[in-house]
Amino acid sequence: MSSALFSPIRLGDVEFANRIVISPMCQYMADDGAATDWHLMHYGNLAMSGAALLFTEATAVSAEGRISAQCLGLWTDAHEAAIDRFMTFSRTNGGPDLKIGIQLAHAGRKASVHRPADGAQPLTAAEGAWQTLGPSALPYDTGWHTPQAMDRVALDRVKADFVQAAERSARLGFDVCEFHVGHGYLLHQFLSPLSNQRNDEYGGDLAGRMRYPLEVFQAVKAVWPAGRPLGVRVSATDWVEGGWTVEETLAFVQALKQVGCDFADITTSGVDPRQKIPVGPGYQVAFAETVKRETGMPTMAVGMINDPEQAETIIRDGQADFVMLARGMMYDPRWAWHAAEALGATVAYPPQYARAEPSRWPQAFAHRRETAPDTIGDMRQLK
Ligand SMILES: Cc1cc2nc3c(=O)[nH]c(=O)nc-3n(C[C@H](O)[C@H](O)[C@H](O)COP(=O)(O)O)c2cc1C
Repeated sequence: MSSALFSPIRLGDVEFANRIVISPMCQYMADDGAATDWHLMHYGNLAMSGAALLFTEATAVSAEGRISAQCLGLWTDAHEAAIDRFMTFSRTNGGPDLKIGIQLAHAGRKASVHRPADGAQPLTAAEGAWQTLGPSALPYDTGWHTPQAMDRVALDRVKADFVQAAERSARLGFDVCEFHVGHGYLLHQFLSPLSNQRNDEYGGDLAGRMRYPLEVFQAVKAVWPAGRPLGVRVSATDWVEGGWTVEETLAFVQALKQVGCDFADITTSGVDPRQKIPVGPGYQVAFAETVKRETGMPTMAVGMINDPEQAETIIRDGQADFVMLARGMMYDPRWAWHAAEALGATVAYPPQYARAEPSRWPQAFAHRRETAPDTIGDMRQLK
């Protein structure tokens, strides 16, 4: 039986060779927002993974929207040129079927902190802390920065920052763009009643809390090339009593569908440190399944998906249209090659590495040895 995980799928005008997506992963290695040699190595390496779609890490739409001072950004021509370097390299040298997506983000009240390797705590003034923004002047936790509640000017400016970053992303040739509306960052902060206590049209009931993220989405949709998938990463629940719920997520995804959203990448949590997350294999897949079933939106499932059979089942059973891997791809950057071998499927290798493909040297693989031809095979050309 052919593999569902390795079957193609189309979103808009873009054809994906399989259902494997490399989930966004912050690297905290940028130089004043600009990509460095680290990004060239990191993305160049992942570009060969065999995944159909490689997402960049959260890419800040403005300096103040960065989580840490080391986060990647896209708000100047210099940032655009720095991303172009690793993009072009990844495209040229990566798997022949590779598509590349960008995740655009604004950290809101969770900005201005040390990178995780340095403790992930808020920066002090002496360490260069900056004024953070949020829907309401409510800090994420005790001792965290109190954000400035966004007024009309700030709402318009941040929306314009998203639009400008999306225009730059389109120019850079990204095949896919997703907004970060999860993990407690700015647009999620607008959705959740725990972080949004505004009493204007951008707060209060569900329609009010969804208004700003939807306005940002529509503004970007207006400039994003038709046919290239535009989607969101959304937290399906805050895992906190009184927080954002699955039912609200369904309403939000329905509203996004009305304004031309092409996919939803379903994660959870991040807005409130009181969250209690029942972590385990595939712990967020059921949320993607619910969203897909109830809204008909193409979904991506993420979170502790690491086993090829597990990934195959998620796609075969229609729980999601794509699986995303983060840690699994750092652990094994050729995960898709190995999954293809485990599932009896094929995946396109870049020509430089084509001879590592198991069918080219089957005698080296125990499970292939019995049926492998008794010849020296590829050894003839080992020069
Ligand atoms: C090092 C690292 C950096 C991450 N950075 C981001 C990010 O930039 N944007 C995002 O939406 N999620 C980020 N995540 C979350 C992952 O995309 C993913 O949702 C999460 O790790 C669960 O998937 P996994 O179990 O396959 O690791 C990050 C995760 C890791 C491990």
